[in-house]
Amino acid sequence: MIRVLSVASECAPLVKTGGLADVVGALPAALAPAGAEMRVLLPGYPAVLSALEDGKVAFEEPDLFGGAARILTGHAAGLSLYAIDAPHLFDRGGSIYLDTSGRDWPDNPERFAALSWIGARIGMGADPGWTPQILHCHDWQAGFVPDYVAAMDGPKPATVLTVHNIAFHGLAAESLIPELRLDPDRFDRDGFEFWGKVSALKAGLMAADKLTTVSPTYAEELMTEDFGMGLDGVMRYRRDDLSGILNGIDEDVWNPATDRHIKTFKTPRGKAAAKTALCRELGLGEAQGPLCVVVTRLTEQKGIDLLLESLPNLLARGGQLAVLGSGNPTFEEALRTTANHPSVAVRIGYDEALSHRMIAGGDAILVPSRFEPCGLTQLYGLRYGTIPLVAMTGGLADTVINASPAAMAVGVATGIQFQPVTADSLRAAFNRLCDLYAVPDVWQRMQRNAMKQPVGWEGSAAAYAQLYGELARPA
Ligand code: ADP
Ligand code: GLC
Repeated sequence: MIRVLSVASECAPLVKTGGLADVVGALPAALAPAGAEMRVLLPGYPAVLSALEDGKVAFEEPDLFGGAARILTGHAAGLSLYAIDAPHLFDRGGSIYLDTSGRDWPDNPERFAALSWIGARIGMGADPGWTPQILHCHDWQAGFVPDYVAAMDGPKPATVLTVHNIAFHGLAAESLIPELRLDPDRFDRDGFEFWGKVSALKAGLMAADKLTTVSPTYAEELMTEDFGMGLDGVMRYRRDDLSGILNGIDEDVWNPATDRHIKTFKTPRGKAAAKTALCRELGLGEAQGPLCVVVTRLTEQKGIDLLLESLPNLLARGGQLAVLGSGNPTFEEALRTTANHPSVAVRIGYDEALSHRMIAGGDAILVPSRFEPCGLTQLYGLRYGTIPLVAMTGGLADTVINASPAAMAVGVATGIQFQPVTADSLRAAFNRLCDLYAVPDVWQRMQRNAMKQPVGWEGSAAAYAQLYGELARPA
């Protein structure tokens, strides 16, 4: 077994703000059959420390960015964990990234530098009981790991950085370089400098042995100006070390035949009861068109404005919309107003159980994202015969087979894709959706195709295992 430490700022089911948590939480079980023993290092947020079942101190860090810390090891939710018990950094209210007024915690650079520092320390053998051969770092929060490893003495683990979303760079002022324990000589184009600031993400992108992202199409997009968010040059520079490995979903949690949140079903026909129950719950009446559901963070990335703009066309065709989400207050407000329409239901908030009922009960799931590194809700939709209507970008391009005339002729379509990502083309996609929905045979064929599509971790776990294997081989 190859020993791998996953270094991340969130991990389902313990602490989650988005798909990153799902992926970090799923990888250890997915990778075990592929030959990797993976532990996860997390900040010791209250939710993590209280879930730790058999925590014991692996080592102590007397001065971790402003205070003493104990590094605990133990188990929680079936995962092998390391948690950083450092109250000065992680014991606070608000969310894991934001204070109670919704602003980034001012000491986020130090908080996640601390996560990276401890990742590097474990990689260098700080826990005598277990030393990983690979440090698998996720997003900017673990971006400094490779730099810290490089500066420490001794045999070194290999490093992999996975980009889940290049929009978040983890920027800090240049003046913080000494405090963040970074090498000032690396504050340049070839290191962690980004337009005069320190970028934790760029640090990792420049220094990790291998880079991955969460779909093959996003890997290509990252190298373009349109999607690289200023780091496309870096991605092109690292092109030979970059690969796209698609996310999977937890097929036990997202299984229409066993889902504890719904009246279960195995075939498209069985979905009817789930839809009836959902409509009753949300106060939606009978309609001629499809019930479209959306489960998402409400941000610019997710194309909520495009959805609001083109919604009248869906409603005019007899369609319905149900949204579950939270985020940007402007979008929340606009959605609440839209919910005055009898064919629209909006629930603002985060609700795991309702997300299952919505994905099970909807006819279609909408993901009109401007960019989407992988996306998970379209995968849930496939599994439940809830036809994905998605923008043709990133992982959405890689996981849905568009109902093009050719795909329809041979009967392999699983959903609808639209491009460019504009309100006009979303309007056209709504028309296609309603046309397909109106022909039950055609629609059910797509549902059956969707439900058969593999959406688990098997293939991707093998790809990660292969990457680890290449890196762990002695030089
Ligand atoms: P991202 O990570 O960009 O937010 P993903 O599609 O990869 O997008 O993952 C989002 C995850 O968060 C999915 O598991 C989705 O079901 C979940 N999710 C998002 N918003 C909500 C919500 N309001 N209630 C419940 N689950 C949500
Ligand atoms: C990010 C992306 C999303 C992806 C998730 C897990 O949050 O926005 O597309 O599915 O990470 O990799």
